[in-house]
Amino acid sequence: MAILPILRYPHEVLAIEAETVREITPDIERLIRDMIETMHAAPGVGLAANQVGVGLQVAVVDLSVGEKPGEVHVLINPRILENSGSHADEEGCLSLPGFTERVARPDRCVIEAMDLHGQIRTLEGRDLMARAFNHEIDHLHGRLFIEHLSPLKRRLIKKRVQKRMRAGDWDLVPA
Ligand code: NI
Repeated sequence: MAILPILRYPHEVLAIEAETVREITPDIERLIRDMIETMHAAPGVGLAANQVGVGLQVAVVDLSVGEKPGEVHVLINPRILENSGSHADEEGCLSLPGFTERVARPDRCVIEAMDLHGQIRTLEGRDLMARAFNHEIDHLHGRLFIEHLSPLKRRLIKKRVQKRMRAGDWDLVPA
């Protein structure tokens, strides 16, 4: 297992549409194990494969951040079947450390995804889980949470990141 570097905004890989996984190979199993370890170490409640530089439709979610065994959801080729309701709350992202903003998200969602064993499963998420599922599936379509903000707020975040890049305080690929 390995902790992988988490790419930061505006790394170009974060903006690409991830490709469908055709087969769960040993490489993909290893990627998923590393992603879970990386998410827990960060610590974070979700991580998408493009955040570690792999353009495949794979994400992991664990609202317990490793505290409760069995809480990890592995989402391969996930897609949203249903979104309903709306709830605004603070949201952040491991690719934008230090930045949080209020984002409106559905408060209930139903998704379909393949698990590590190749089984297609339907999962229902409410509240924070609905937020996490939507956030991670957004990643797999090349979208970060800041795209849900007003253009003004988004521009302010971009400027703050650019300032930190100029100061040498923000690496797109942290060591
Ligand atoms: Ni994120």
